[in-house]
Amino acid sequence: MIDKRKDSPVDPDKKPGDSLDHALRPQYLVDMVGQEQIQENLEILIAAAQHREEALDHVMFYGPPGLGKTTLAHILANEMDVNIKVTSGPAIERAGDLAAILTNLRGGDILFVDEIHRLGRVVEEVLYPAMEDYALDIVIGKGPSARSVRLKLPQFTVIGATTRLALVTAPLRARFGAVYRLDYYSLEAMEQIIHQASKKLHVPADPEGVHEIARRARGTPRVALRLLRRVRDFAQVRGDGVINVTIAHKALDLLNIDAQGLDNMDRRVLRAITVKFNGGPVGLKTIAASIREDPDTIMDVVEPYLLQMGFIQRTSQGRTATKQAYQHLGLEPPKDASQPRLIP
Ligand SMILES: Nc1ncnc2c1ncn2[C@@H]1O[C@H](COP(=O)(O)OP(=O)(O)O)[C@@H](O)[C@H]1O
Ligand SMILES: [Mg+2]
Repeated sequence: MIDKRKDSPVDPDKKPGDSLDHALRPQYLVDMVGQEQIQENLEILIAAAQHREEALDHVMFYGPPGLGKTTLAHILANEMDVNIKVTSGPAIERAGDLAAILTNLRGGDILFVDEIHRLGRVVEEVLYPAMEDYALDIVIGKGPSARSVRLKLPQFTVIGATTRLALVTAPLRARFGAVYRLDYYSLEAMEQIIHQASKKLHVPADPEGVHEIARRARGTPRVALRLLRRVRDFAQVRGDGVINVTIAHKALDLLNIDAQGLDNMDRRVLRAITVKFNGGPVGLKTIAASIREDPDTIMDVVEPYLLQMGFIQRTSQGRTATKQAYQHLGLEPPKDASQPRLIP
């Protein structure tokens, strides 16, 4: 891979709301911390496409929110030095919407489809030949005189992102040449991401302070950056502006983020399974209804982390709480509570 830039400049055209996320987003693979295996695979994918002077193969990223799917899509566009058109499954309502997007693409361009599992059936069927043969089949006329015309499209790349690979239909999935799963980041990677962000934000943070935030950021860069901002606020208002372990500790306690990185919603889910449903097994929808939370959030955000931490297990009958879950909540585990099977 070519090292185009050592340090990415801060994105100048940004809105106040998402400015920070944009500014902190890695721009090239060299800027990216963690997900090493995906990085290496992408380097090969990029180099091969460049060598053949072809568009990049279609790529799908999946995994919990905040791990870098959107970031990687933009990195690929930067590395390939092509345009990226950003859309999402629910945004493309009709086949005509997709046709309009496709006919406006230029050779090599990337079409990033976020939440690709939410594409409608009819729209998906337009996408199949577009991805496979760079062709668009359109029907002209109505009734008996209707005929189908095939339009040639330039070679382009679809990058799909989803938190729910299981909801992506098999034929769509089959059209992606590469499918990558993003995993939670290691503690070291999280520390590095927080350290880099604190430098970019000009917030002094000592290694212990960084470590404390990293430990409680559930292996998720987006969470880490959010916590860093809150701890920075706390340091500025209650301290001397420097993030150290004491400040980080106090700020995170105030946010109700516990030592394992669990927040209020995580603990409510755990408490529901352990106390209300006697340790399970219980279905996610039932849990969501019992604590009046959105089942999608629980499925995308809460469950994967609780599984990863070994606090819950997924069985064919539903979710069960492990011994560790009871211990974490300070409850006496029942004799038959299961030991977690740690996900490698
Ligand atoms: N490897 C990484 N290194 C540094 N920052 C990252 C990394 N991955 C993600 N981020 C940051 O985390 C935030 C969330 O990433 P994003 O790509 O939007 O996640 P997703 O699309 O998977 O929900 C972004 O603001 C980005 O700056
Ligand atoms: Mg995203």
